[in-house]
Amino acid sequence: MSDSVRLRPVAEADLPDLERRWAEDSDTVGEYNWTGWSNPRWRSNWEEDRLLGDKPVLLIDVGGTVAGFVDWHRIETGGRGSFCWEFGIVLWPGERGKGYGTQAQRLLAEYLFANSAVNRIQAWTEAGNLAEQRSLEKAGFTRESVLRGYSFRGGAWRDVVYYGMLREELATS
Ligand SMILES: CC(C)(COP(=O)(O)OP(=O)(O)OC[C@H]1O[C@@H](n2cnc3c(N)ncnc32)[C@H](O)[C@@H]1OP(=O)(O)O)[C@@H](O)C(=O)NCCC(=O)NCCS
Repeated sequence: MSDSVRLRPVAEADLPDLERRWAEDSDTVGEYNWTGWSNPRWRSNWEEDRLLGDKPVLLIDVGGTVAGFVDWHRIETGGRGSFCWEFGIVLWPGERGKGYGTQAQRLLAEYLFANSAVNRIQAWTEAGNLAEQRSLEKAGFTRESVLRGYSFRGGAWRDVVYYGMLREELATS
């Protein structure tokens, strides 16, 4: 894998391009993620916590060019404060299919296991999103389950596939 992919925080100079992409192109988030026009409030959220608070965002930087982003949030998993991270990923349309998604998801797993004491990281995607399923598997995640009729998009309820990685699997996957 190339070393040119890295994850970095959002800078103020990145905001205009992020806002433009959300305002102009429904394919910015990909066909399996688009559920109508929305306002992710990039600037106000960035001003609040630099997008490093409860729902962090890191940009996927490929040789100095922004190719997309990853984000994640906490999911309660049981008693006594136990939780895992659930993450998402979006690559800009022109940056898909080049291996960046695999590298970014691997880097994110390494980052989250190194910087928080969680035992588990997970992600889900629609059953039709074969590129994301393949990318997750190449990044070391295990296909775990299908949840039927879980996500509403494009006028229909969609099945989704859950993937997970445990801390002990990072070294061996
Ligand atoms: C999904 C996504 C993150 C994957 O990242 P990527 O950089 O495009 O994926 P990679 O190039 O690392 O790997 C994709 C793999 O899926 C395969 N693939 C792509 N489309 C496929 C399809 N329709 N059917 C089967 N396999 C497919 C590729 O061949 C590749 O596998 P290979 O290396 O064994 O040939 C990216 O395409 C994206 O951002 N899409 C839009 C947003 C999205 O769907 N996010 C997912 C969260 S819901």
